[in-house]
Amino acid sequence: MLHVTLCYTQTIDGRLATVDGLSQWIGGPESVRYWHQLRAEHDAVMVGVGTLLADNPRLTVRLVEGRNPLRVIVDSTLRMPATAHVLNDGGATNTLLAVTERADPARLAAVQAIGASVLVLPTDGAGRVSLPALLAALVERGIASVMVEGGAQLITALLRERLASRLVVCIAPRLMGAGREAVGELGVRDLAHMVELANVELLRFGADVVLDGRLVYPA
Ligand SMILES: NC(=O)c1ccc[n+]([C@@H]2O[C@H](COP(=O)([O-])OP(=O)(O)OC[C@H]3O[C@@H](n4cnc5c(N)ncnc54)[C@H](OP(=O)(O)O)[C@@H]3O)[C@@H](O)[C@H]2O)c1
Repeated sequence: MLHVTLCYTQTIDGRLATVDGLSQWIGGPESVRYWHQLRAEHDAVMVGVGTLLADNPRLTVRLVEGRNPLRVIVDSTLRMPATAHVLNDGGATNTLLAVTERADPARLAAVQAIGASVLVLPTDGAGRVSLPALLAALVERGIASVMVEGGAQLITALLRERLASRLVVCIAPRLMGAGREAVGELGVRDLAHMVELANVELLRFGADVVLDGRLVYPA
């Protein structure tokens, strides 16, 4: 059984990033530290290639004591550059690239030479990485928990496919106005069909509020 936790930081008005894709940092330093604690509590941390290209995150545990989780980048055609931090910070062997057969073999060989692992997975209907296949492959590798740190497309896809079981959302007391929303189209046309958060725990980190709960999908 794989536990998938969705984690993101948003403004009060539900924005994950500015219209130009800037998101570091919407939350305060206390909640960023809590994010590192959550990383240490999961076997793997996952982001979509959009987040990798926008933020070039390290996805390591630095602000608290703890082990680094496996870093999983979901990248159908291997768009990530070989200069990414996750390949060049001395921990490339702890980086796993989830790609499809659309990824260029020469580029795949190059990232493997740096030390990263590669999973070539089936595609979904849109030619992207099949998320059920990815999660099954992680289970085979002994991974029991994954923290998904974004971005919006990956989070939305996991919600739409009902593959996530927990949501931890950090709400910073700020308004952005126009910007990128955290969660996109879920096909909800009836208020009875919204995804709910149950057993909600409320935490405070500095000025930020964190809601942590179990995802309940409509029948
Ligand atoms: N505030 C926060 O907590 C936070 C956290 C993370 C990111 N962000 C912000 O979010 C923005 C990036 O979000 P994003 O939505 O553009 O990108 P994303 O969700 O990080 O990555 C999306 C990409 O992942 C790849 N992918 C492969 N298989 C997929 C699948 N089955 N479902 C969905 N995606 C799949 C697709 O690219 P291919 O088709 O090429 O594979 C897709 O374009 C940035 O501005 C970043 O700063 C904010």
